[in-house]
Amino acid sequence: MSPRILVTGGAGYIGSHTVLQLLQGGYKAVVVDNLDNSSEVAIKRVRELADKNGPNLTFHKIDLRDKPALEKIFASEKFDAVIHFAGLKAVGESVQKPLMYYDNNLIGTITLLEVMAAHGCKKLVFSSSATVYGLPKVVPCTEESLISAVNPYGRTKLFIEEMCRDIYRSDSTWKIILLRYFNPVGAHPSGYIGEDPRGIPNNLMPFVQQVAVGRRPALTVYGTDYKTKDGTGVGRERDYIHVVDLSDGHTAALEKLSDASVGCEVYNLGTGKGTSVLEMVAAFEKASGKKIPLVMAGRRPGDSEIVYASTEKAERELKWKAKYGIDEMCRDQWNWASKNPYGYESPDSKK
Ligand code: UD1
Repeated sequence: MSPRILVTGGAGYIGSHTVLQLLQGGYKAVVVDNLDNSSEVAIKRVRELADKNGPNLTFHKIDLRDKPALEKIFASEKFDAVIHFAGLKAVGESVQKPLMYYDNNLIGTITLLEVMAAHGCKKLVFSSSATVYGLPKVVPCTEESLISAVNPYGRTKLFIEEMCRDIYRSDSTWKIILLRYFNPVGAHPSGYIGEDPRGIPNNLMPFVQQVAVGRRPALTVYGTDYKTKDGTGVGRERDYIHVVDLSDGHTAALEKLSDASVGCEVYNLGTGKGTSVLEMVAAFEKASGKKIPLVMAGRRPGDSEIVYASTEKAERELKWKAKYGIDEMCRDQWNWASKNPYGYESPDSKK
């Protein structure tokens, strides 16, 4: 029998790519998503991309805080593991509306963990973030680096990690893998699924993509006084990782959960390479043939200078390594953007 995985937030950006990978790998996927920052069109497209395995995907529009609804799903089928993506993720919004973030991310996760425990499903892969490294003093960030949070969003990731460690300490029959994502970008090479944030994008590449398709006039580059390796002093270095590589990391983590030795483990998912904002923009311009007008601005509050991952632990223990570089990330980002300039709301996307 194919393993059955519950995927929370499976209609979202990273979730939809991972669900596709699961289906292609012979898993059954049950997605729960409240569609707060995602679209059911993504589910439909994942089914189509998965072709003959498409019917192995089922979808429930549910908010994780709706415990009776979640209970019903766990009562009706048995899950081998849960991948938990669902959560709010905009840093600025979390500063404005901290309670909304604590309510959604923490209460949603607590509810999920309670229902899992009640139904004897104790295998979890959780979407954590490099945000838990705060403003790192030393790079690369290793899984042993100090963790801290600099905004409410980051605190929800950090609290959930700590909660998972406590749960495992209290009951060693749990198996939990915390994946700390660096900067996910790009899209599935088909150009059929990709990132489609609601409102003004907070992150670099969705913004660049909207400039390229004419939805916004220019990219504001935050901070021109950093010590970057390209000597421009413009923008900071981040560890951009192709979303397809990131999805692969989840199937590797699921396989790892069957290891008797696993308790509660954390892994970085990054490439181990830092790229500056200008390098990323140049790679995107090359891939798209579009000029991205820039407006130089001051630093964005809370922005670290350089953040990139140590990838050794994931390579060693998950046998996983990112395959794609920034040229492929930008190629696939542009392929998605040019086919869906308004994301899943593009005129052709409603079908
Ligand atoms: C941000 C969050 C991080 C979160 C991650 C994924 C902050 C401080 N950090 O990471 O907690 O886990 O997103 O959602 O918000 N940039 C511009 N102009 C823009 C947008 C970004 O110059 O319009 C620059 C930023 O200054 C940064 C780089 O591009 O140097 C990447 O920014 P972004 O995509 O927002 O990611 P992070 O800040 O690394």
